[in-house]
Amino acid sequence: MLTALWVAAAVAVVISLPRWLPGRVVALRGWVFTRINGEESIPVPGELVGVDRFREVYSHPAASGRSKGAALSDLFWYWLSPGPEMHQEHLEAGERYEAVALTTRRILSVPRARIEELTRRCVTRALEGTAGVVRLRDLMMPAWAEFSYELVFGEPCPPRARDLIAGNADDVVTALKCCGLRHMDRRDRLTVYLLEALPRVRHELPAGLTAREQALYLQGAFFNTAVVQMSEATAHVLMALAQHRDVQARARAGDDRYLDQVISETLRLYPLFGIAHRITKGDIPLGDGVTIPAGSVLCFDYPAFHRAGFPDPDRFDPGRFAPGHAPIRELNHIPFGMPGNRPCPAWRLAPLALRVAVREVLRAYDLDTAASHTRSLPNRGPCLLTPLDPGDPAGVRRGPGRRLTLLSMRFRDRWEDVWRSLVQLVLGTYMVWDARRLRLCERHFSHDAHPVR
Ligand code: HEM
Repeated sequence: MLTALWVAAAVAVVISLPRWLPGRVVALRGWVFTRINGEESIPVPGELVGVDRFREVYSHPAASGRSKGAALSDLFWYWLSPGPEMHQEHLEAGERYEAVALTTRRILSVPRARIEELTRRCVTRALEGTAGVVRLRDLMMPAWAEFSYELVFGEPCPPRARDLIAGNADDVVTALKCCGLRHMDRRDRLTVYLLEALPRVRHELPAGLTAREQALYLQGAFFNTAVVQMSEATAHVLMALAQHRDVQARARAGDDRYLDQVISETLRLYPLFGIAHRITKGDIPLGDGVTIPAGSVLCFDYPAFHRAGFPDPDRFDPGRFAPGHAPIRELNHIPFGMPGNRPCPAWRLAPLALRVAVREVLRAYDLDTAASHTRSLPNRGPCLLTPLDPGDPAGVRRGPGRRLTLLSMRFRDRWEDVWRSLVQLVLGTYMVWDARRLRLCERHFSHDAHPVR
């Protein structure tokens, strides 16, 4: 009798694992990261700076250090290698940063019609022959690889380059989410390719940089960040549409203004940045004798800021951004960063391209999912794509086969989550430890550096 009870209890624990284990493991991972990295940072919003002063502190001229002086930077540099010291996001202010930022602005200043045509072409090609269950991030990555290549080189992307770029971006984002270790050989292959291809770049590259530095700059901004961010953003919007079928129907039938509301709400609820950090270069007085001292590490928490000030903030509701509501600039909504402190240079291009990409998918497919949708999207967005009947875009077959597919997707997703949370704990702990050991950022600034990797 006792044995039977034990067996029943063990079975109950095992069956309930998907419900409680992933959350506990994520919490444990956070604890381990803090133990290894130290508690150096000031969260904003937090005890010291409330939501009401989030924008003020983020925009403060003293909140301008990007990498130097934060242990956290070693981890970002580790994930963004090779060439994190040339990544625009992590360059300190100065001549080199200005040269790089100018080049990025030039490459991204593309007429709207061209952005739309290029996106349509790249996404259509990626969708060719696709149907059934896909991982949205994987599906979109080759499209954004081709898109970025054509922005930089001004000519269609050869398959070899597309594979190298997608391989690089996938490796970076997989490591960032602690779902896999970094594979420097995959990333280095792209660097070698870019070094050879530099003479074909259609734009003037930043002056004062060696050829290798120029290749690494392009790799960081255009073949890592651009591809990762656009793939993740598209996957998030499509996942939101797959989960909210009423919104999907309206978006498919509706005009672009509604789709823009869907995109804004998706980026509110699932901002691509969890935190962005800055190291203060001077004191930031907060009044009443309270000061954030120079050398502090401020961690701006996007999800927390995006939740504050919205009623029922966890609900997905594109209507928050409908005309008649508060203007978007007055809302706690900064998916592309703070205008006053190094915001995303693609803030104009990215939403345009995203809209066209989502429109292309909606035109061709019905979207459905039973997988979980979280901000970090470690499951890469499992989704069932059912081709729409071109003669009857509203008519989709909803037979038992479809229900079975969704049921198995749900089952698989929940159990994958259990396994993945353990993998993330182990690999994440290893990478945090390895990054502390290598001290890429710290060594770079202390000039005891060998090439940064
Ligand atoms: C939907 C897509 C995207 C979103 C939501 C996004 C979001 C952001 C955010 C929030 C920041 C500021 C982070 C901070 O304050 O530290 C940022 C910076 C940056 N983003 Fe994007 N991004 C997207 C697409 C792109 C694309 C397509 C590129 C192409 C090059 C790009 C390149 C950069 C760069 C280079 C920076 C650093 C800017 C600087 O420090 O000067 N992003 N992005």
